[in-house]
Amino acid sequence: MNILAFESSCDETSAAVVSREGDSFKIKSNIIASQVETHKLYGGVVPEIASRAHIEAISSITYEALKVAGVTMDDIDAVAVTANPGLIGALLVGVNFAKALAVANRKPLIPVDHIMGHIAACYLDEDGNVPKPPFIALTVSGGHTGIYLVEDYNDIKLVGSTRDDAIGESFDKIGRLIGIPYPAGKGFDALSREGFTEAVGECEDYLARYKKSAQYKSQDFILPSPALKDDTLDFSFSGLKTAAINLLHRYEQLGMELPKARFAARYTFEAVEAVAKKMSAAIDKYGVKTIALSGGVAANSHLRHRLKTLAKEKKITLYTPPVSLCGDNAAMIGAQGYYEYIRGNLADSSLNASASDSILPKD
Ligand code: KG4
Ligand code: ZN
Repeated sequence: MNILAFESSCDETSAAVVSREGDSFKIKSNIIASQVETHKLYGGVVPEIASRAHIEAISSITYEALKVAGVTMDDIDAVAVTANPGLIGALLVGVNFAKALAVANRKPLIPVDHIMGHIAACYLDEDGNVPKPPFIALTVSGGHTGIYLVEDYNDIKLVGSTRDDAIGESFDKIGRLIGIPYPAGKGFDALSREGFTEAVGECEDYLARYKKSAQYKSQDFILPSPALKDDTLDFSFSGLKTAAINLLHRYEQLGMELPKARFAARYTFEAVEAVAKKMSAAIDKYGVKTIALSGGVAANSHLRHRLKTLAKEKKITLYTPPVSLCGDNAAMIGAQGYYEYIRGNLADSSLNASASDSILPKD
């Protein structure tokens, strides 16, 4: 079956045609119009500007997605759309467009949760090298940091999360303060690599070595772990961010030049180790043999590396989408849309968007 899918929850307008063939998915097209250049001017996403840009882009993006896939609306079996969570004005553009298209062409309409979509990015491997429930999913993005127990494709529970800032948001904010343009995650990743290399050289086990390095043990950049010191699977990235801001202020007040790469490496190390610590606890708690990493921050090379090491230590399997499918895209919405469709989770023309999460905490 062919699913035409839409994503417009934040600052990417995307339309994709995803087909289910046998036991695997095929991405026939996945067109993404990024608004990053527009929002860069303001250092972050401006919701009203995002909504307007979605309106401007969505028709031509849809046309292109159909054209690249080599199909027409007659070949489409269902229309899937991100209905929550996200920026409400941005979501409404996708929801109303998808609704109109589904009604006009008499196609089933499938509402999809954005976070479930990020997890479903792991199902898109064409060779069927994909996680099968039950598994633990870590979804890390500009707006979310959550650990999920995926008991079935549509049965997902939140088992750990940030109590304040998302990990991506913290990279973006701190990155901006040290001069990396929005969204700073990718630049922060590269800068941290320089810092790690400076501390321990280029080597396969650089994170393990970094922890034992003189640079880590020095008193220069002491930052708190965002892993909460309790038996929950929760985080506080706001604590790490605030400590980092205070440190940056101190450098400024003393008129000292900040060794940016060293600072970025330390910040990334604390963030990545905290995530690994809570993922390790989640694996033990739920006894799973499979974990999955997704969301925009899953593109982070250090986080990918650390979770790979963790999976090896625990003798379990890690799945993560290619970097091109980590950020917001409609193909992932199409994949989750398929599982919603076969469960009969459809909507009619009364479908509305919602800013809030639909995945509930366990218990
Ligand atoms: O999933 P996504 O595209 O949008 C949201 O749903 O938020 O994630 C965007 C986030 C941004 O915070 C961006 O800085 C971050 O993903 N990001 C990264 C990297 N590439 C993108 N963060 C760390 N390292 C990266 N390589
Ligand atoms: Zn996202």
